[in-house]
Order: sequence, then C-alpha cells, then structure tokens
Amino acid sequence: MTARNLVILTGAGISAESGVPTFRADDGLWMGHRIEDVATPEAFARDPALVQDFYNRRRRQLAEVRPNAAHHALADLAARWEGDFLLVTQNVDDLHDRAHAETPPAAGFELVHMHGELLKAHCTRTGRVCDWPGDLAPQEPSPHHPSGRLRPHIVWFGEMPLHMERINAAIAACDLFVAIGTSGEVYPAAGFVQQARLAGARTVEINLAPTSGRRLFDEGVYGPATQMVPAFVHNLMAG
Ligand code: OAD
Repeated sequence: MTARNLVILTGAGISAESGVPTFRADDGLWMGHRIEDVATPEAFARDPALVQDFYNRRRRQLAEVRPNAAHHALADLAARWEGDFLLVTQNVDDLHDRAHAETPPAAGFELVHMHGELLKAHCTRTGRVCDWPGDLAPQEPSPHHPSGRLRPHIVWFGEMPLHMERINAAIAACDLFVAIGTSGEVYPAAGFVQQARLAGARTVEINLAPTSGRRLFDEGVYGPATQMVPAFVHNLMAG
C-alpha cells in the first residue's frame, strides 16, 4: 500500500443497492417534485408543510434500509487504513454512519456529510444543529431560540455545502482520490477530482458506467458498487 492520505467521495450510487433511490435516475429521489419546490430556502419559506413532509417521508424510509457491502467495505478500509482517510459523502442518509458504528475506524479516519443529514435538524435563527430522528412539524419550534423554527439539516440549492475547509485541506494533501457512485453533476463536489489532480493524487472513479467526467480520472472501475467497492478495497489493502 503506497498511498497514505486518502479521500473518498461518495454519492447516491453507493446507497442505491440498499434501496435508496438516486437523484438523476428516472424514478429519482425527488419523488415527482420539482427541485425548486422542495429543496430551496424559498420553497421552505413558501410552503413549509410540503417541504417538511418531503423530508419526513425520506427520514422514515431510513428505517427500511441497511448499509450494503460497499458501505461495509469502506468501514473495513477505515478500520485498517494507517494514514489519513477522509470520507466525504454527498448522501444525507446514515448508511455510512451505521457501517462505521459496527466496525470502529482507525484514528486517522473522519466522515463528513457535505450536504447535511436527514437525521438532524437545525434552528433557522441560530443554525444550531440537533439530532432529530422523527417527523418535523411545518412550524416546528426551535429549542434554541424563542422565534426560531427547526428545519431539516439539509443543504438546499443556493446554500453553502458543509465542512468545505476540512475537505479542501484533505484533498490538497491526498495522494489517492476515489469517487464512488456520483454523477459529478453538482459542484463543488464535481470539482474535487480536479483539485486532487492538482495535488498530484491518483484518481479513480467507481460507478455503474463512465460518467461525463471520466477523462479526469486515471482509472475507472465499472459495475455495481456492492461488487466493485469490496474488490477495490481488497486490491488496495493487498497493495
Ligand atoms: P446522482 O443521482 O446524480 O448520480 C448517481 C450516480 O450513481 C450515477 O452516476 C449512477 O450511474 C451511479 N450509480 C447508480 N447505481 C449505482 C450502483 N449500484 N453502483 C455504482 N454506481 C451507481 O447522485 P449524486 O451524484 O449523489 O445534492 O448527486 C449529487 C447531488 O445532487 C446530491 O447530493 C444532491 C443532488 O442534487 C443536494 O441535494 C444538495
């Protein structure tokens, strides 16, 4: 194993075989809604009941899904990797978290959800984040501010993704960058591969099929994540 500092970016494709729909497939996660009706701050201001209901249903679906072999393979890698390993997920499900809870990671590992987390809420006045496993009412009062409300802890369109400083620093220092199950259509995540190349890292994409950014990756591994990710992890650990 020659790489020391690893950054892995995951997208909806890694959770697809657990039964969580991806975004850009025909039966995609927007569940028949227009993005601007459920995933923008303006939508929440206009129709909080619709927006809360959309995320309440997605939050409830988490009880019906489990981490798959790809999440578990990354958890095994995190337990054995001796360098730094930042796992950046665009997914708001908790499937990576559950896999790592079963297989505790080594000291150099960190998981960040750059687009937020379904099982958390934050206060509209203070931004304070809290765990929220149940439904949110349209005007859910915030425990953190008398005139605040709680909203899903989700990065909506037009908002700044989370943990960007941490992510940029890890990419600048990485020598291996792997993108798994992401279409590369949404920035800033879509630009991480170029940042990694500038840092001199080897770049690999794992997906069902080559994405539009394929030429930016040194290597492409194509097939279902539940098969390709365990095989990739095995090869990586074997050196
Ligand atoms: P997309 O739905 O855009 O892309 C999913 C990718 O996963 C596609 O490239 C598929 O080919 C691939 N895929 C599907 N099934 C797979 C499988 N079994 N194994 C491997 N790959 C598979 O989802 P994301 O790239 O995650 O942002 O989308 C990025 C962001 O767009 C999301 O985080 C979300 C959305 O707008 C926000 O909500 C802020």
